[in-house]
Amino acid sequence: MIYLDNAATSFPKPPQVIQAMTESLRTFGANPGRGGHQLALQAGRTVEKCRQAAAELLGAAGPERVIFTRNCTESLNIAIPGMLNKGDEVICSHGEHNAVMRTLERFVSRGDITVKLLRPDEQGLLSPDVLRRAITPQTALVIVCHASNVTGVIQPVRALGEVCRAFRVPFLVDAAQTAGVLDVSLDSLQADMIAMPGHKGLMGPHGTGLLVLREGIDPEPLILGGTGSASESIRQPDLLPDRYESGTLNLPGIAGLMEGIRFVASHREEIHRYETALNERLRRQLARIPGLRVLGHEEAPRVAITSVVPSGGDSAALADALDATGVAVRGGLHCAPAMHSYLGTLKSGAVRFAPGPYNTEQEIDDTAALVARLMRS
Ligand SMILES: Cc1ncc(COP(=O)(O)O)c(C=O)c1O
Repeated sequence: MIYLDNAATSFPKPPQVIQAMTESLRTFGANPGRGGHQLALQAGRTVEKCRQAAAELLGAAGPERVIFTRNCTESLNIAIPGMLNKGDEVICSHGEHNAVMRTLERFVSRGDITVKLLRPDEQGLLSPDVLRRAITPQTALVIVCHASNVTGVIQPVRALGEVCRAFRVPFLVDAAQTAGVLDVSLDSLQADMIAMPGHKGLMGPHGTGLLVLREGIDPEPLILGGTGSASESIRQPDLLPDRYESGTLNLPGIAGLMEGIRFVASHREEIHRYETALNERLRRQLARIPGLRVLGHEEAPRVAITSVVPSGGDSAALADALDATGVAVRGGLHCAPAMHSYLGTLKSGAVRFAPGPYNTEQEIDDTAALVARLMRS
């Protein structure tokens, strides 16, 4: 099987990720932060080591400002509702995933908030000027997807963050497709909160995600409960990260994520260069196939994602045919209806190819040849 679905989750994972997960389960699989025995303390140290590594990667003021979650969706579900009040306005982009759109819709349908979508330019890029004009005194949050999970197009988040900073509006970045390949530190993105999965570019296992919070940004927690701290009080502790981390943490997942972050921290630019080269190689070959529309503006900067629509509009059939011949890709709408609406592909959906660090040029060439053959048949 040629795996080209790294935008959904990265696969395979580095061997050291699997080893660390197995090791944690086999030798110190106690409950981190619960109890004072040696195994619980060792589990706790493993969690804190990963938090420290993530804090360095993300430019957090301290490790306690990095919150462990189950995935990027959960991170966004802390960051969004936790910042909103009745009467607020939220500004976001056409590139938002349903993890953002559905979370906002719940409040819109209750009449609690309004949402404004920024209009992109002809390359699909957002401009600081458009954002500046959109912000009003009611704007309580700006959310931007760093890179689209459909076209791969990278937004100029730093410039957008500078506008938010000037207006003192909190800025949330969805770095689902960029963490691990681009610099996603709080300062480089001028962000107040960054949500990301641990299981995509950071090369950690399923069931891992992160939310990093700038100092002074403290959304209401999503889940309340036992934290192993201040147990005499029935009030949720304000102490970070406990405020956001009720319930038993995913020790094997975090142990694996630690190794994923280590791997990425020392190879990030190399991974980005390599994946991008594979993606551009695939994109060039796909663009030459008659009857195939390659999505996204050619000149726009992008991560390693290429989506195509066959002329008949049946992208599900193309994705199924690729699966049957040994290529794993993702058809459909990729949980991003606003982006498909912008591209005019809501009905057809698209077939998404997302190379990762373990793909080879041979796999890319074989995939392109297979698509060409399927399009002829
Ligand atoms: C842009 C974007 N945001 C959010 C998500 C949700 O991520 P997760 O599956 O980790 O919840 C994804 C997943 O594909 C994504 O591409």
